[in-house]
Amino acid sequence: MNIAIIGTGYVGLVTGTCFAEVGHSVICVDCDEAKVKLLQGGGIPIFEPGLEEMVKKNVAEGRLNFTASTAEGVEKSDVIFIAVPTPPLEDGAVDLSYIERVARDIANAMTSYKVVVDKSTVPVKTGEKVAETIKRYCKADCEFDVISNPEFLREGFAVEDLMNPDRIVVGTTSEKPKAAMREIYEPFNAPIIFTDINSAELIKHAANSFLAMKISYINAVAAICEATGANVEEVATGIGMDERIGRRFLNASLGFGGSCFPKDLSAFIRISDDLGYDFGLLKKVQEINAEQMDRFLKKITDTLWILKDKTIGVLGLAFKQNTDDVRMSPAIEVCQRLLKEGATLRVHDPKAMEKAKELLPAEGVTYVDDMDSVAEGCDALVVATEWPEFKELNLAKTRDAMTAPLLFDGRNLFDPAEMEQLGFTYKSIGR
Ligand code: UDX
Repeated sequence: MNIAIIGTGYVGLVTGTCFAEVGHSVICVDCDEAKVKLLQGGGIPIFEPGLEEMVKKNVAEGRLNFTASTAEGVEKSDVIFIAVPTPPLEDGAVDLSYIERVARDIANAMTSYKVVVDKSTVPVKTGEKVAETIKRYCKADCEFDVISNPEFLREGFAVEDLMNPDRIVVGTTSEKPKAAMREIYEPFNAPIIFTDINSAELIKHAANSFLAMKISYINAVAAICEATGANVEEVATGIGMDERIGRRFLNASLGFGGSCFPKDLSAFIRISDDLGYDFGLLKKVQEINAEQMDRFLKKITDTLWILKDKTIGVLGLAFKQNTDDVRMSPAIEVCQRLLKEGATLRVHDPKAMEKAKELLPAEGVTYVDDMDSVAEGCDALVVATEWPEFKELNLAKTRDAMTAPLLFDGRNLFDPAEMEQLGFTYKSIGR
């Protein structure tokens, strides 16, 4: 199948590469010419495990191409995926201007039947608008179908998730696009669920909001654990073994972040409001997430009392493990709030230090390349991202390098009993 992917962000680039990997002919379009040049030369703009090798291989084998011209992408393909950003607006609504722009560009370039697939996360009923827009601007007056195919990949596991999907959701009731999508996804061996277009769009927002709800739920339970001396991990295991609940996404933390959950929650709440339904449950999910960060920072200030002139080490800047993405990262928020209180920071992240520099002030932050050296001269150490390598931290060296061995673990990476034995004052979440 000849496929165009418009937008080479996390979703677009990984989707295009995986489609090429299974044998399709893919042309990825991006309006950022510098990015297109970088990709054409074998470089990639993001860190995502396994992606660089896969891009290089498929470019070399001629199945993956890049261009800055939407017209070229449209002309060379039968199916066009839209994977451009849908960033949040101040009032929680979604900025759909990139989608609308692309719809017009596709319409202008179309000279024959195309399947236009929306992969970006969008509010319900966006597909209908895209179809109206294409119809209005298509001079050649050709036939087309607009369908929805939401993406469920997690950053840091994007290639793995895309190559082994739980399910493929396709929103269309027409036979022609159904056949095209069956052909595209056949090599992935996953069940395909066909729905109407509005349901497919809703599935994405409902899924992300549900997962965010799971995290806020366990974080609320963690607060009760802290008040009673219970252990949230044991509670999570105990409830998670019920297949109706499941253990995944029940890891208590300093709160969820990233470019999806916070944005998608706000958007879903806003859409519901507009449709006349007050989604109070999801508003509470947001509130619990904000409180979780406050409660974590309070633990630090309750212990250290005054933060002014204290040095605090921070392990982790990315919003989660295996990524260099710092958008809406709880770790960055921790840093910003500690800095505001007058602390100076020594920070480390295996992949996200460069991107963090764009968000953190130059003054008061020292970037440390070696995680075992972060704690030098620190009054406290904070674990803010669940990078598995942090578990290999040289704890004895860390303890001895600090003015006092005080560790705040926002990701429950270490064992409380072991930490106590090593002489740390150790505070984690819900344990
Ligand atoms: C999410 C969805 O999982 C994915 O299906 C969708 O396509 C995009 O949004 P992503 O934002 O990449 O993916 O990250 P995810 O792994 O879901 O984690 C989101 C946030 O929740 C991170 O900050 C993570 O640290 C946090 N989290 C996750 C927890 O605090 N506890 C958990 O148990 C799981």
